[in-house]
Amino acid sequence: MCGIIGYTGKNKVKPIIIDALTTLEYRGYDSAGMAVYNPDKKRTEVYKCAGRVRDLSKVCEDKNIDSTCGIGHTRWATHGGVCDANAHPHTQGSVTVVHNGIIENYKDLVEEYDLASSLKSETDTEVAAAVLDRCHAETGDPKKAITKAVRKLKGTFALVILFDGEPDVIYSIRNVSPIVATLSEEGAMLASDLTALTRFTNKYFVVPEYTIVRMTRDSVTMWTLDGREVEPEYLTMDWEKNSADKNGYPFYMEKEIMEQPKAIRDTISGRTKAGIPNFEADNIPDSLFTDCERICVVACGTAMHAGLVFQSLVKTRLQMHIDVEMASEFMYSDPVIDDKTLVIAVSQSGETIDTLEALKYARRKGARSLAIINVKGSSIARESDYVMYTNAGPEIAVASTKAYTTQLAVFYLIVYKMAHIRGVMDDDEVRECIRNLKRVPEVIGSVLDGRKAVHVIARGLLEAKDLFMIGRGLDYSILLEGSLKLKEVSYIHSEAYASGELKHGPIALITDNTPVVAVVTQERLMSKELSNIREVKSRGAAIALFIKADLIQQSTREFDTFMLPNLPDELMVFPASVALQLLAYYVSSDKGFDVDKPRNLAKVVTVE
Ligand code: AGP
Repeated sequence: MCGIIGYTGKNKVKPIIIDALTTLEYRGYDSAGMAVYNPDKKRTEVYKCAGRVRDLSKVCEDKNIDSTCGIGHTRWATHGGVCDANAHPHTQGSVTVVHNGIIENYKDLVEEYDLASSLKSETDTEVAAAVLDRCHAETGDPKKAITKAVRKLKGTFALVILFDGEPDVIYSIRNVSPIVATLSEEGAMLASDLTALTRFTNKYFVVPEYTIVRMTRDSVTMWTLDGREVEPEYLTMDWEKNSADKNGYPFYMEKEIMEQPKAIRDTISGRTKAGIPNFEADNIPDSLFTDCERICVVACGTAMHAGLVFQSLVKTRLQMHIDVEMASEFMYSDPVIDDKTLVIAVSQSGETIDTLEALKYARRKGARSLAIINVKGSSIARESDYVMYTNAGPEIAVASTKAYTTQLAVFYLIVYKMAHIRGVMDDDEVRECIRNLKRVPEVIGSVLDGRKAVHVIARGLLEAKDLFMIGRGLDYSILLEGSLKLKEVSYIHSEAYASGELKHGPIALITDNTPVVAVVTQERLMSKELSNIREVKSRGAAIALFIKADLIQQSTREFDTFMLPNLPDELMVFPASVALQLLAYYVSSDKGFDVDKPRNLAKVVTVE
């Protein structure tokens, strides 16, 4: 999704914008641009191009840009192709704008304001700039112009605006699409996400929706649309200052895979007391878990896969009814939601609009809500009754890894908490589960220590075009996530299948040397899983087996095997998932791909 940066302060703005846009590259984009106020010419100047931030740097390199105020943007195309003209910023009259989101009624506005002849791009953003310019011409005042213009806009937007008449001043207003901001001795800064601010400060605030922000080098003022001034509510980032750097790794994905032992320890820490799950620090009452009669998880992608693991645990441990819903399908599936439903929204970014809208829908139906989020103060966190943060630190790679395993850690804590307060597990039983959960970081560490063996298996998959991943029960949930990882970063068409289901059709696709990745970690399912593996092996499949050490037997030695260190079966998700993350990572990096920024993908999906 688009990256946005704005700065006005005492420093030259060009390097600040280029550096921030480079940090925001992980969000996924196809063009970049900046607008700076030129005090000599007393107007805003725009530099932009299709391509990478480094291409923008080249466009600007011989320009004498002394300005200390400017805005920058990386565009993930939604309206109009990838070309210089469609890159942001967009200028109409006295107004220059960068935008993240979708103006749904932009075509109506083109008609209403008769804009067709003046537009230089195919974007909805330029239409928003034109409407702002018209309102500015009518009112003569930026605040009044913004107030008037946003009432015309339908859809989602984070707009950052320069008005020619107000040098060194930045305005902003948002609806759904995120904007965070800060004021420090360096000046005032805003961005589409925290990673662009970490170099400046660890204090920030979330710009409230439909609130006009006016930034100068030493002030930030905010008003509601009815003119009431509001104060920023500052939050503190608990990320180390340079935690969004690669710190020597070739890719963020590898760094974030390696950070998982610490991330899981940090997520569990503070959430047990005397070995029993304790959520007082999260201000979550036990009643949230005792009053509900059913649970509904809403999430997308990897976050949804974490929900599937939770679903298995809830059924096994609590015998409770639980649904896991693709957030993008949820609202259109007439879900059964009432005031006895606990809806759990899971999201690394906390900004995925499908998940946010699903949460809002469930709350309108009376559900109580809990969000499991990695980014503090994000939209989904603010929308939810209660929040449990995963303390994974910034996750920059598009492919989610440490966010997934820390989401799992929170889910295991929740299941053990619910089992305890519902009387399903006594103190000793739940303490044993927590003791085992606290072993996960160390066990993941031994998978990471043995990662060279995963790399050997990965080398055998480099030429694969199609690939199956097969397993049953929890192993199937693990493989859904492992398959997504491989697809995302290696572009191999990988399909996770419940291994018992293969013979009902898909086994027709197995031919000589079809690569099949199998996971076996559940003792009670092992014999069936092994017979399913033999079924595909007898049809020529090339097997790569990831199996729990205790389950290895003579018959499995014929396969390329990675031995997963032992944990109780229900916790084997952790070592198995990390091994499959490594598999995807090595295939992608050995194929020479940009692992952190896979084609077509964005880290935060803020469009439906
Ligand atoms: C995961 O590797 C993907 N990048 C994607 O599926 C992601 O999990 C999904 O878009 C949800 O993002 P969120 O956790 O920020 O809501």
